[in-house]
Amino acid sequence: MKGMLSPSLMCADPLNLQADIEKLDALGVEYIHLDFMDNKFVPNLTLDTTLVKAVKGVLKNMKRDIHIMAFEPEQFFDRMEIGSGDIVSVHYEACDNLREVLGEIRSRGASPFVAISPDTKPEVITDYLDYIDGVVVMTVYPGFAGRPIVEGSFEKLSAVRKLIDDSGRDIILEVDGHVSWDLCQKMRQCGADLFVAGSSSIYGKGLKLEDSVPKMMELIK
Ligand code: DX5
Ligand code: ZN
Repeated sequence: MKGMLSPSLMCADPLNLQADIEKLDALGVEYIHLDFMDNKFVPNLTLDTTLVKAVKGVLKNMKRDIHIMAFEPEQFFDRMEIGSGDIVSVHYEACDNLREVLGEIRSRGASPFVAISPDTKPEVITDYLDYIDGVVVMTVYPGFAGRPIVEGSFEKLSAVRKLIDDSGRDIILEVDGHVSWDLCQKMRQCGADLFVAGSSSIYGKGLKLEDSVPKMMELIK
């Protein structure tokens, strides 16, 4: 599967979000990464449900890649207008009823992904491989941009890649957190397909999307 980009909108200028979304769409980016946080599962609040819903109305070709860092994520699906074409990632650590939540995402026509935080073992996804279209490996502790990569992240990416390949199912491996200029190709070699690009790459200080996005696309293709 070719490498795909999912720029993290929480890293964009909050006063110029629509301009960035339109620019990214025009640059041929496949997904826009929308981080939703409840200030309980992670100690932060970022994009709210109103914004996640509003993004839907301005996308031309790009699709929503919604990363819900919240307990009981299903309570937000209506307000986000989850539907066909969306990736919806929910955290293994945040759901008591993960299989039902994944089924609810699927029933709305969206693609269910399970996200695992750095301290969660890759093997936990084994029970869910028949119910997901993707796995998000968090390579930083979730909740904030600009965090350092967690020790052992590359081995974890390779381990999840092997679990996916052994399952014989067509499952996307997404990497989220510190996807930097110097580490993204190693992440690709470990088997990542979808790259969340934030402050460590395309949204780095002083960079212009029209320059940084094509450069990142080239590195992860
Ligand atoms: C962190 C978020 C990521 C993050 C990526 O919880 O999920 O989207 O913002 O950005 P950097 O490159 O700063 O890690
Ligand atoms: Zn994210």
